[in-house]
Amino acid sequence: MRDGLGNLGTRRRNQSVEDESGVGERDTGMDSNSWEGWKGLQYRQVRLPPHAIKAEPGASSSHHLETLIPVQLTFAMDDLRQWPDPVVPVQSLSDGGLTGIPEKYVKPPSDRPSLEANLDPGLTMPVVDLRGIYDGSVDSRAAMVAIWDACKEWGFFQVINHGVRQDLVEEMKGVWREFFRRPSDEKQGYANSPATYEGYGSRVGVEKGAVLDWGDYYFLHLLPRSIESHDRHWPARPSTLSRNVTEEYGGEVFKLCGALLRVLSMGLGLDEEYLRRAFGGDGTAACVRVNLYPKCPQPELTLGLSPHSDPGGLTVLLADDHVEGLQVRKDGAWLTVRPVPGAFIVNVGDQLEVISNGIYKSVDHRVIASSKDERLSIAFFYNPEGDVAIGPARELLTPQLPPLYPCITFNEYRLYVRKRGPSGKSQMKSLKLY
Ligand code: OGA
Ligand code: NI
Repeated sequence: MRDGLGNLGTRRRNQSVEDESGVGERDTGMDSNSWEGWKGLQYRQVRLPPHAIKAEPGASSSHHLETLIPVQLTFAMDDLRQWPDPVVPVQSLSDGGLTGIPEKYVKPPSDRPSLEANLDPGLTMPVVDLRGIYDGSVDSRAAMVAIWDACKEWGFFQVINHGVRQDLVEEMKGVWREFFRRPSDEKQGYANSPATYEGYGSRVGVEKGAVLDWGDYYFLHLLPRSIESHDRHWPARPSTLSRNVTEEYGGEVFKLCGALLRVLSMGLGLDEEYLRRAFGGDGTAACVRVNLYPKCPQPELTLGLSPHSDPGGLTVLLADDHVEGLQVRKDGAWLTVRPVPGAFIVNVGDQLEVISNGIYKSVDHRVIASSKDERLSIAFFYNPEGDVAIGPARELLTPQLPPLYPCITFNEYRLYVRKRGPSGKSQMKSLKLY
């Protein structure tokens, strides 16, 4: 191992030196590697993604990138042990009846939202009817094409007839609304840390003195079950019901993501299991982030959630039916999404942009605050297995279409993102090869 790798990826480190591909974790020195020197970074080798291991012999072998990650992107976990400043839940500020927001929530003028000028002028985000997508009972070709186009042009779409029971959706919203109504002391018992984010929290990123967002959240890992912290972070109230409902809801949305991933694989001209395999197959991960955006006395000065693209694979958002807030960047402008009742809002995350080598777009979005209403949203994240290297699918690469991104494991990418906090697409741009 090179110096400076910190205490990275224990699971991977403990793995045997060579995996079945014959290219296990070892320091190659990179002398023969033409990518050495890209942006001044050194690389080291990581486990090959399953799709690369299974690739046909004779497939383009000139791209070594899926085995390499830049050393500079590896951080010591020590930086993420605790928040740099004491965390105050936004809910407690909002409930305190403030007439103005504290200074540390005030964004610089260029980052403030314009609360009027952003209504979607007819350029509505695609709404796709998924009936028949699971079982082929209805010809779903048109739906598939609509999804492919949406992922290329918007990075976002809404889905109706998605197969997740409406009563389960309502129950899910209900138990989490109830959680956020619990006494402040009780919620504080679940306060999270930047190491895993699991639990009740209010900020993203560990930059001292950063301007904060007007929102609180609860973050949980649902899959894989082997995550050891799995049991520790569930709130005890509102009773086990919240866990049962969340797990059942998570299971249903996970199935939906599996179906969407098959469609998305086909849209790249790949076999329908391709993306699922690339995500680590049975090791695919899932997390949920329940967002609560309390009423804000000065929504024009702040944001509920700063611009960001989602770092993972696919996000399925259950937005509040009654309160708008999500804005998506489209052709340089921020458009407010109007959720269709009963729909989910689906968006492409950074890992899908990477695997598709930029064909599918992971797009910036943000949330504006409201002075009139509190808003609840539930984001389900379908993510690759943490220690599988993710890079552009080699089947999509040609000399004319070289890889746009280097290879990096999701664990490492997420650490990088978490440390920086929401920073819009710059998190992807900083990785780009060209
Ligand atoms: C997120 C997110 C949007 C919303 O949690 O990543 O983008 O409307 N949420 O809360
Ligand atoms: Ni998001």
